[in-house]
Amino acid sequence: MAKGIILYRSKYGATKQYAKWLQEALGYDCEQATGAAFRRAGEYDAVIFCGAIYASGLKGFSLLRKNAEKLRGKRLAVFCVGASPYDETAFSSFRQRHFSGEMAQIPVFYGRGAWNTDEMTVVDRTLCNMLRKSLEKRDPATYEPWMQALMSVRDGKADWTDRAYLEPLIAYFSN
Ligand SMILES: Cc1cc2nc3c(=O)[nH]c(=O)nc-3n(C[C@H](O)[C@H](O)[C@H](O)COP(=O)(O)O)c2cc1C
Repeated sequence: MAKGIILYRSKYGATKQYAKWLQEALGYDCEQATGAAFRRAGEYDAVIFCGAIYASGLKGFSLLRKNAEKLRGKRLAVFCVGASPYDETAFSSFRQRHFSGEMAQIPVFYGRGAWNTDEMTVVDRTLCNMLRKSLEKRDPATYEPWMQALMSVRDGKADWTDRAYLEPLIAYFSN
């Protein structure tokens, strides 16, 4: 049986939750994506990187890129977690922006995360409040999908995490 590891980068726990669900489903090792963890990943046949999306960037992406060479030849996939509902056009442009060159070969999957204003750092909460205020003045038709999601959150809380988002990724690693 292939030896696999899940490396995750999560700030508020939604991506970690997906990593744990993946661990249950695939029986792989699972740990936070640090430089040392990426180096250890060289010993595995299969590697899954799970990263949270912040301001259209992927947490931990620079580590993944830095270690891409080491992971060559392994079964590798990425699972991204954001507030946005899945949107083909937005996700494909996100994918192209990050996964170019040799990294374009990596299969990238997506699942929705969670939102909890009370748990956020002061900086994140302030940023989101400022964004909300500026979006209130804009035509909702011009919102990107994740902005719509942000505006749809009531009482500062939402949880869109769902194991079903992992099914395509689990199927990919089960074949
Ligand atoms: C400051 C901030 C910026 C965010 N930017 C995005 C974004 O660009 N796209 C998106 O889909 N979600 C965005 N989100 C939502 C997070 O991706 C979502 O809350 C996710 O569950 C975070 O994962 P984590 O709990 O593992 O940290 C943002 C959240 C915060 C607080």
